[in-house]
Amino acid sequence: MERKIIITADGSSTIHLPEWDEQYHSKHGAIQEAKHVFIKSGLSLFSDKEISILEIGFGTGLNSFITFLEAQKLNLTVDYVGIEAYPVKAEEVEKLNYVSELKANDFLAIFNKMHSQKWAVKSEISSCFYLTKRKQLFNEIHDENSFNLIYFDAFGAKFQPELWTESIFKLMYTALKEEGVLVTYSAKGSVRRAMQSVGFTVERLPGPPGKREMLRATK
Ligand SMILES: C[S@@+](CC[C@H](N)C(=O)[O-])C[C@H]1O[C@@H](n2cnc3c(N)ncnc32)[C@H](O)[C@@H]1O
Repeated sequence: MERKIIITADGSSTIHLPEWDEQYHSKHGAIQEAKHVFIKSGLSLFSDKEISILEIGFGTGLNSFITFLEAQKLNLTVDYVGIEAYPVKAEEVEKLNYVSELKANDFLAIFNKMHSQKWAVKSEISSCFYLTKRKQLFNEIHDENSFNLIYFDAFGAKFQPELWTESIFKLMYTALKEEGVLVTYSAKGSVRRAMQSVGFTVERLPGPPGKREMLRATK
């Protein structure tokens, strides 16, 4: 599918899919959305410990890079697993402006390392951040009791309805440890009900700018 780099309302870039008229992030602000949904509503529940995170859709690496930056503030050691079946190409990564927009120029090498590292190998990105990128489909995830936190960042249900179903959330539930948490930008009633039907306790939280609500599900 054709992919184009565009700039969102907060100045940060994202990838646009003309065929679907869909983006990797909110048009209202990619960084703003990532910070609100995944950091404020997810990562910030944890501090001063070692945690494992599963990302559903590694894509541009924005969530893993922001998590690396925030983990230092929260005194966390992070074991991060990013799943991605259709990797972003090196020439696309070069055009993403996350490092400068996040004023993280000292960590440019870290962002690049996240993208250049081999698939299926756990790598030390820094002494407090370990990354494993797995090139696989979401329905092939069969981890059990392994993660404290899931960033569920698939394309919208309008485009990939098969990813917002009971069968996928059952895999997510199984992959989480007891009391593990899944956060997503979606607030659809059908998504909430699919999560509840596999056993999650689901909260509706205020959404990022441009979106009234989002969901947080706890095992
Ligand atoms: C909404 S984008 C978000 C990407 C990423 N979280 C980011 O911040 O850039 C969804 C991602 O899921 C990937 N994807 C879509 N369907 C998939 C599938 N069935 N299995 C694995 N990856 C998939 C896409 O290639 C894309 O990178």
